[in-house]
Amino acid sequence: MRSVQFAEYGPATVVHVAEVAAPHAGPGEIRVAVRASGVAPGEVRIRSGAMRAVVPVEFPFRTGFDAAGVVDEIGGGVTGVGIGDEVFGMAATAIRGTNADFAILTAWAPKPAAWTWTEAGGAAGSAETATRVLDRLAAGSGHTVLIQGAAGAVGTVAVQLAVARGATVIGTASEHNHDFLRSLGAEPTTYGAGLAERVRALAPAGVDAVFDCAGGSLPDLVAIAGDPARVVTIADVGAASHGVHLSHGAPSDGEGSAVGHADPVAVHGLTIAVTLAGEGRLRVPVAAEFPLAEAAAAHELSETRHARGKIVLVN
Ligand SMILES: NC(=O)c1ccc[n+]([C@@H]2O[C@H](COP(=O)([O-])OP(=O)(O)OC[C@H]3O[C@@H](n4cnc5c(N)ncnc54)[C@H](OP(=O)(O)O)[C@@H]3O)[C@@H](O)[C@H]2O)c1
Repeated sequence: MRSVQFAEYGPATVVHVAEVAAPHAGPGEIRVAVRASGVAPGEVRIRSGAMRAVVPVEFPFRTGFDAAGVVDEIGGGVTGVGIGDEVFGMAATAIRGTNADFAILTAWAPKPAAWTWTEAGGAAGSAETATRVLDRLAAGSGHTVLIQGAAGAVGTVAVQLAVARGATVIGTASEHNHDFLRSLGAEPTTYGAGLAERVRALAPAGVDAVFDCAGGSLPDLVAIAGDPARVVTIADVGAASHGVHLSHGAPSDGEGSAVGHADPVAVHGLTIAVTLAGEGRLRVPVAAEFPLAEAAAAHELSETRHARGKIVLVN
């Protein structure tokens, strides 16, 4: 089968499609014939070598963390899903490899009819991540939540999940994305200098929680929240020096690692996403889709850091 991989650190051009043996579903797993899968910015940084001190990897590194497809193999002990079912879900963090013709999923949910394959292929990682962080922030009804980097893959889903929880959401993005953020239910503002003043104008009573999807501005975000415990980042490896929790799901990063303990994976985020999609309250904005063979171009787009929504590979 085809699998997207890289065998050395370097520019996007080191990403290529290789012919590899198809994997098989082990206990508790399913295999899907992949229809679409997400491009993960974290893997783009791993590929560049920027993360080598924090996330050591073995080559070849098979990319892809989430996917949507048709179930074609079911591992031992798995119930509630059948061959031919259409699902979306996630691979084990240590295995990955969903940017391929077949992928092993360890968490999945039925593909909502309201989503295209492309949307479903890019949904699981964002839904899980956003749910994990909103849970930790205890974001709920009556709260005001600031989402930094709200126009990206995780941010767009986080805005909608926070709105669905009854929160008032302020989202940051470049100005040309402000109408788009409004369409998702957020009150938009720009990031960068003067953010605290702009947020104060939008939320004079203050914000209850801050979800940082961008990194690089934790001092400002802590000042806005008034307490580092009210800030969670998914993108700033310097979080600990600001007293802020860096949420991630990678199991290999234990005590003493640069990025700290992994949080439990919020698998229930997939079920929540299915429910909201069925109610027409959650869409998965797709920034661009590329054929599997053009994964390098997808990495290049991700590196601009200005994709609006999720970048997806289609089979
Ligand atoms: N720890 C975890 O569990 C986990 C899980 C998933 C992702 N991540 C990480 O979280 C980050 C977000 O992921 P993603 O997939 O949402 O990324 P993404 O889709 O590539 O994010 C792109 C967005 O970032 C915005 N942006 C760029 N620079 C910004 C800045 N200085 N301040 C605020 N926003 C800025 C852009 O907004 P404009 O175009 O409007 O400027 C764009 O919409 C990445 O670093 C990713 O690696 C971590």
